[in-house]
Amino acid sequence: MVPTDPLSQMWNDPQYVTRYNNIYTTANDQFALYTQMLALDANDDFLDLGCGCGDFIHYICNNLSPNARPRTITAVDQSKEQLQLLRQKSGGESDLYIVEKPFLELFPAHPHRFNKIFARASLHHLNFEDKKIFFRMLKPHLTPSTLFLLYDMVFEFPLSHLDQQLSQLQQEASIYYGESWEIKKSDIVHTWFQEYPEDLSDWQEVFAEAGLQLKQRVRITSFLSKLLWSNEVGCGR
Ligand SMILES: C[S@@+](CC[C@H](N)C(=O)[O-])C[C@H]1O[C@@H](n2cnc3c(N)ncnc32)[C@H](O)[C@@H]1O
Repeated sequence: MVPTDPLSQMWNDPQYVTRYNNIYTTANDQFALYTQMLALDANDDFLDLGCGCGDFIHYICNNLSPNARPRTITAVDQSKEQLQLLRQKSGGESDLYIVEKPFLELFPAHPHRFNKIFARASLHHLNFEDKKIFFRMLKPHLTPSTLFLLYDMVFEFPLSHLDQQLSQLQQEASIYYGESWEIKKSDIVHTWFQEYPEDLSDWQEVFAEAGLQLKQRVRITSFLSKLLWSNEVGCGR
């Protein structure tokens, strides 16, 4: 079926996808850090939400020892184009499930439960209300000791202050992205204003819908953080 909404069209446009994947590459040491934060192991059922071309999954399949590699890996994305790249890279692993669906159509049809979840730069595509709906649907698919690593736009000021923060944010982003800022600038500013990044308290409200509380925050900039969430009792900060 040919996608009709603008977001799906964008992520199914080969030129857009190629440009994105070329510009936003990740070094293996970053993937190693995500692996550590999630404490991946062989008993895990791992879910990558909005996996894109599957670089993290590729890293997991090729770099983790058998005792660190999850027993199942589920890759979800609505982009046929991105998942095609993941299929080409993967070696037909029997423990890898590739699901081509929008987040809001994943449950309740999907039968599995997950205890380790990763979402990088993907959930900001859902607006606040849809995020809450999604997390409510996700809740029954979590085990009682789930860890969820979100790497996304997290404003450390109220979202309503975004306009007044713009020049400071651009200055900070130009330092953080360095030489690549000029090429990334239009995407990043588009994400800030046209997509749905949240401030920390809004992300907390969204994750609470699935019973997940913030366990650890790794601040990168005032607009970007890694947030580790857990549903274990007493894990909140
Ligand atoms: C910015 S890319 C990030 C890809 C990957 N997580 C990474 O870090 O490289 C966002 C991905 O989320 C996917 N995506 C966006 N909205 C989605 C939705 N509602 N349902 C499923 N996938 C979605 C896009 O197709 C795209 O592959």
